Amino acid sequence: MSEKSFDTLAVHAGAETQEKHFGAVSVPIYNASLFAFSDAESGAKIHNYEAEGYFYSRLGNPTTDALEKALCELEKGEDALCFASGMAAITTSILGLVETGSHIVAPESHYATTGSFLRLLAEKFGVETTFIDATNAENYKLAARVNTRIFYLETPANPTLQITDIAEVAKGAREAGVISIADNTFATPFNQNPLSFGVDLVVHSATKYLGGHSDLSAGAIIGNREIVDKIRHSTMKLFGGCLSPNTAWLVLRGIKTLAVRMEKHNSNAQKIAGFLANHEKVKAVFHPSLTNHQNHEIAKKQMRGFGGMIAFDVGTIEAGKIFLNNLKLCTIATSLGGVETIAQHSASMTNANTPKELREKAGISDGLIRLSVGIENSDDLIEDLRQALMII
Ligand SMILES: Cc1ncc(COP(=O)(O)O)c(C=O)c1O
Repeated sequence: MSEKSFDTLAVHAGAETQEKHFGAVSVPIYNASLFAFSDAESGAKIHNYEAEGYFYSRLGNPTTDALEKALCELEKGEDALCFASGMAAITTSILGLVETGSHIVAPESHYATTGSFLRLLAEKFGVETTFIDATNAENYKLAARVNTRIFYLETPANPTLQITDIAEVAKGAREAGVISIADNTFATPFNQNPLSFGVDLVVHSATKYLGGHSDLSAGAIIGNREIVDKIRHSTMKLFGGCLSPNTAWLVLRGIKTLAVRMEKHNSNAQKIAGFLANHEKVKAVFHPSLTNHQNHEIAKKQMRGFGGMIAFDVGTIEAGKIFLNNLKLCTIATSLGGVETIAQHSASMTNANTPKELREKAGISDGLIRLSVGIENSDDLIEDLRQALMII
């Protein structure tokens, strides 16, 4: 049978594990922290990873395992690991792959807490990060040093929607002998598969689109078996930020509708980006679908759809706050990827702790609004945005 299309995969991903669960169509939730061995010999083998099986849920659980298998299918990876949050996935992975004196290259525009973590690594452990303009893949190579261990990507980037050429950075990483990691939270595997462009590891905040309903915290990594295994047996085991089986089940349920949700997120966002681009109160709009987006051509090359995230500039911090306060349908909140449309003002919220100079360098202007476009009716959303923009 030829390779299944994404919407089919999303519904059935991880289903081969049904056999293990008496044919249960929905993977059961294994609320067990430990698993008994049938005898000492087989117990020792399972515990030492010489035989398949489970022994302790921090290190493996059948429900979480089903989610990891599903994520491998969707992201086209060899292996996966789930975590209690996106940040647990990011910090555990990076710490598992660097040592004191290592160097990382990362984009100037990134999820603010990832940046705080990279700065903390430099202060406390001497692991320095060079932040570059990732809209030009060449800058990764230019910033590489003999001690560089990781090229870190986030594309589309939070909150600016900047796009990085994944294949170019992955090629540069291979040539330089460093590991490439891509945060695929904004795009989701529906729109983009970084592993197919040669990246070694994908990270996700499954709190966002994978879960999809603003009701859980989860994270995951997917990719090269050797790298995932290295993280599993070092920092994952030691830090213990594992995902609970209850939450793994919620993410699995979310994934079943990922394709239909993403289709609507994509089409709504494209319509809204077009509306905002023609509005007199809006200074600039950033969405990879727009032909005037700086890296629209690269986005077209590597994305199947342009995603549900939009950023737009209303001019000033004050205008940003007035706009949010006048929204009637959209929710004011700092997360994204849920079925409801969520708006936030980056300078006073998610990037309030980013020094102004770094914020501006990353393209986060005072009036930047980040919109996570939901799956409501696009006309209703446009009407809400129109009336809130009229007041600023
Ligand atoms: C792009 C991106 N990566 C990672 C994270 C961190 O995920 P979590 O909040 O699940 O820890 C976020 C959170 O907003 C994000 O937007």
